[in-house]
Amino acid sequence: MNGSKLKIALVSSEAVPYAKAGGLGDVLGALPKVLEQHDCEVMLFMPKYSSIPEDAHKIKINWRIDDLSVPVGEKHFEVHLYQTTLPGTQTKVNFVYCAHAFDNRWIYTNDPDENQRFIIFNRAVLKIMKRMKWKPDVIHVNDWPTGLIPLYLKTFYKDDPFFASTGTVFTIHNIGYPGKFHPDTVYLAGLDQTKFFPGGPYEFWGMFSFMKTGLLFSDIITTVSETYAEEILTPEYGAGFDGILNSRKEDLVGILNGVDYEIWSPEKDEFLVQTYSSKRLAGKAKNKEFLQERVHLPVKADVPLIGMISRMVDQKGFDLIEAILPQLMQMDIQLVVLGSGLPKYENLFRDLHQAYPEKVCVHIGYDNQLSHQIEAGSDLFLMPSLYEPCGLNQIYSLRYGTVPVVRKTGGLADTIVDWGQSLLEGRKNGNGFVFTNPHPEALLDAVHRAVLVYHNKKEWAQIVKNGMKADFSWEKSAGKYLQVYKKAISRRTEKPLKPEGI
Ligand code: ADP
Ligand code: GLC
Repeated sequence: MNGSKLKIALVSSEAVPYAKAGGLGDVLGALPKVLEQHDCEVMLFMPKYSSIPEDAHKIKINWRIDDLSVPVGEKHFEVHLYQTTLPGTQTKVNFVYCAHAFDNRWIYTNDPDENQRFIIFNRAVLKIMKRMKWKPDVIHVNDWPTGLIPLYLKTFYKDDPFFASTGTVFTIHNIGYPGKFHPDTVYLAGLDQTKFFPGGPYEFWGMFSFMKTGLLFSDIITTVSETYAEEILTPEYGAGFDGILNSRKEDLVGILNGVDYEIWSPEKDEFLVQTYSSKRLAGKAKNKEFLQERVHLPVKADVPLIGMISRMVDQKGFDLIEAILPQLMQMDIQLVVLGSGLPKYENLFRDLHQAYPEKVCVHIGYDNQLSHQIEAGSDLFLMPSLYEPCGLNQIYSLRYGTVPVVRKTGGLADTIVDWGQSLLEGRKNGNGFVFTNPHPEALLDAVHRAVLVYHNKKEWAQIVKNGMKADFSWEKSAGKYLQVYKKAISRRTEKPLKPEGI
């Protein structure tokens, strides 16, 4: 370590306010602020997608580093560095720009060169650090789009004094996305092709996986809740990586994501028709009325309004919801859904709206403003995920006095306490409704229980209060990240990890 401040490089494919597909963006937008408050010097590295407006974010090209070129197989791609400062922080944001990789395309694609886009990004990040002469103590990478960096440090850069004392931390936000590509990725990424063999470091079920290299070659692995850290050690949740994760169990740490309450607080949320707090709950009723009007549902104060904001993928438990729709539609409830993803789920909700326009409203697409308004205007928030590494929406819901109905898995299990269970234990500290079995009847039972209690004003007020006063700020998790960073540094300086198989 040089100087008193820890130098932390955060590398990600998403960060708010520049690019977000899900919770990863929220986390990477918040972490720099928190780390700075703990005496870290932070730099953020992410791709510059053409959807990121330069003027709005005061992004400027760095002309001093203007001749970067990155090899992919035989080809070379020109890369440029763009920079800005993350609002409210000292954090410099370094945008890797490569026209070939990032122009006219969204964050993730199904294009055949998806592997090349992120090879370019991973290689460029390390080159840029060297060119800037900014030597991080820790490079903290996130999910498969950054999974080559720990490997490159232990191959191309293994004898480079510049990175000799740099530790790496790899955070799993979702093990279900392995970043799995054709084996020719080994060649495109500049790696030794003789190391591609069954069970070898570059092979994952016959393919190449960015997730696997991140898991194998990082000094420390973290994931975003304690329960998920345990779950992914099992075949049921490990998505084929449970073997590797078990072999690195000692280096795997679960750290719950925090919430940036500057952005997600009903007291100061600019997107709300009226702000409110646990002491001024009348404002929440106004938000419900506004939401019902906005989404063209009948304005009814006493009908429980159920909100959902979600990527429409299997992970989020849409099959369970589909299975209970007939019963759900018999109940006196309203449902507002915001999301996009698999066409089968988009169509399911479109059809549902057609059949029950008085009960169901669906907005297919991405809408940040509406997501805040749903958090504020709903009574219940539905998140019956089959697995959930952390989940942020249920934690936002708590602060907005919107009661989560969740399945007991991953971060949902670590944040939501079942009201009924808490009564049985005589604690009255429940903040939501929780079911365990991934079966439709279990979900339906939880929704029934929630709706029943909704009509008991006294109990409901207690649940809402329990949720609103809970503190899931980053402060609690920041210290754990610092410990992990220190451990990663000591790995490099005291006991350099001898990478196996390369
Ligand atoms: P995941 O990262 O698995 O998608 P999280 O609960 O951690 O799940 O985070 C999801 C984040 O993405 C939340 O901030 C949520 O509000 C946001 N989000 C998801 N879908 C949409 C959408 N269609 N429009 C706006 N925001 C969305
Ligand atoms: C992933 C997970 C989600 C988590 C988010 C941020 O997208 O699906 O549970 O909250 O990453 O870590």
